[in-house]
Amino acid sequence: MEIWERVKARVTVLSAHLAVSDPVGLGQVLPAIEPWCTSAHTSGTPHGSLKGSLTIVDERTGTKYQVPVSEDGTVKSIGLKKITTGKDDKGITLYDPGYLNTAPVRSSISYTDGDEGILRYRGFPIQELAESSTFIEVAYLLMYGNLPCQSELADWESAVSQNSSVPQGVLDIIESMPHDAHPVGVLVSAMSALSLFYPDANPSLMGQDIYKSKQVRDKQIFRILGQAPTIAAAAYLRMAGKPPVLPLENLSYADNCLYMLDSMGNKSYRPNPRLARVLDIIFILHAEHEMNCSTAAARHLASSGVDVYTAVSGAVGAIYGPLHGGAVEAVLKMLSEIGTVENIPEFIQGVKNKKRKVSGFGHRVYKSYDPRAKVVKKLADEVFSIVGKDPLMEVAVALEKAALSDEYFVKRKLYPNVDFYAGLIYRAMGVPPTFIAVSRMAGYLSHWCESLDDPDTKIMRPQQVYTGVWLRHYEAVIERTFK
Ligand SMILES: CC(C)(COP(=O)(O)OP(=O)(O)OC[C@H]1O[C@@H](n2cnc3c(N)ncnc32)[C@H](O)[C@@H]1OP(=O)(O)O)[C@@H](O)C(=O)NCCC(=O)NCCS
Repeated sequence: MEIWERVKARVTVLSAHLAVSDPVGLGQVLPAIEPWCTSAHTSGTPHGSLKGSLTIVDERTGTKYQVPVSEDGTVKSIGLKKITTGKDDKGITLYDPGYLNTAPVRSSISYTDGDEGILRYRGFPIQELAESSTFIEVAYLLMYGNLPCQSELADWESAVSQNSSVPQGVLDIIESMPHDAHPVGVLVSAMSALSLFYPDANPSLMGQDIYKSKQVRDKQIFRILGQAPTIAAAAYLRMAGKPPVLPLENLSYADNCLYMLDSMGNKSYRPNPRLARVLDIIFILHAEHEMNCSTAAARHLASSGVDVYTAVSGAVGAIYGPLHGGAVEAVLKMLSEIGTVENIPEFIQGVKNKKRKVSGFGHRVYKSYDPRAKVVKKLADEVFSIVGKDPLMEVAVALEKAALSDEYFVKRKLYPNVDFYAGLIYRAMGVPPTFIAVSRMAGYLSHWCESLDDPDTKIMRPQQVYTGVWLRHYEAVIERTFK
């Protein structure tokens, strides 16, 4: 076949696929977007307005620049581009590896103060939500900005529950994965596969405006919140050599997670209510944490206009890493390696000699005790009173005590983070750590909505500082010498 014939044949296949003729009726007038995820401004913040300006003097040229400072104390970095030494200088660029002091978004979803150990979701202190709320209610709060009234909550619960069945094709994909596949890796793949099973939600197929419809967005939110636990449970059951179990409509979110893990399909099985409550609280604690690595990844992917399943799949990929949510497992490995309390001094010395880090310690934001870690530590007692104490708990408590009184940790403000004790709780309850990513779906999705509504949203495209060879010219391969 000639090359043009091949190309034509491919174009025919692609056109047939891409020209999906409006199967869900989205080509018509889209419903107007309600202000359901709008950004709040700085009113009510303790600092009030920080609006003003900076005067920058470029010592290289003697030029003075006036740079505006916004109400919330930010400077538009693009404004610094005009600070230049001349025509070959493209202006000042902020070099910020790891985004230590760069805010690519404005958000009204959660607030953290690392020095004071504060975390609030939509203004509510995390401790209050952990004490009194439920994960499903918190997910609604994150998504729509307010706690639901009774009827809203009932509708929301039922919508999530009705969308919790995973397409058989995705279950087949999970089934075909190796027995020893990491369950978070399975969740990454299954979430990305969902993108293929829901072409109706794919802007590349259906048009770039589809997410302007609240109805279309909500559908994806219900599906992802509903199906993530089913997938996570199926991934675990696959590892255990057991068939997937589907959730029951009349069980709560956390109850269903435990039900799917343990019931073997026996519909009358009911999980321990105290353990289910603990799991629900941990879900609340993990549900959202502003621009952490994985949420930033979700927003980064979504900024390209890609479908939400692909964006969320990328986010789960990021949370998998041991410096992020993967720390939960890394803590368990570390505590097992330490083994007994007597080995702690040697371990700490290794940390101070920079041989390794303490998993579950330290945080980019919290430079005092992580408020979530305080709650988790208390939950550990509740779990151990039901399932019996894990001997590693003793090692964990002694390690924390030793670290908090050591100059190395004190100087660097290193405290236990949420994952330090969460790993032990997950292990004690026999819940795979994949469920951390399941609960973070609420955060990913609320950020996705917020980014869709924010008029400032742009495709995320950071700069680089080029450090390579400036210019050279091509040589034919026979003229090149071995270097
Ligand atoms: C969370 C984390 C990635 C934040 O990293 P970061 O903000 O870039 O902080 P840095 O790596 O710059 O750390 C600052 C200093 O503290 C040290 N440090 C940070 N976390 C440490 C840890 N867990 N154990 C030992 N030392 C640590 C660093 O070595 C560095 O020391 P230095 O100043 O002598 O070079 C980091 O604390 C970490 O790796 N923690 C362990 C993994 C973890 O628990 N992740 C889950 C977070 S919820």
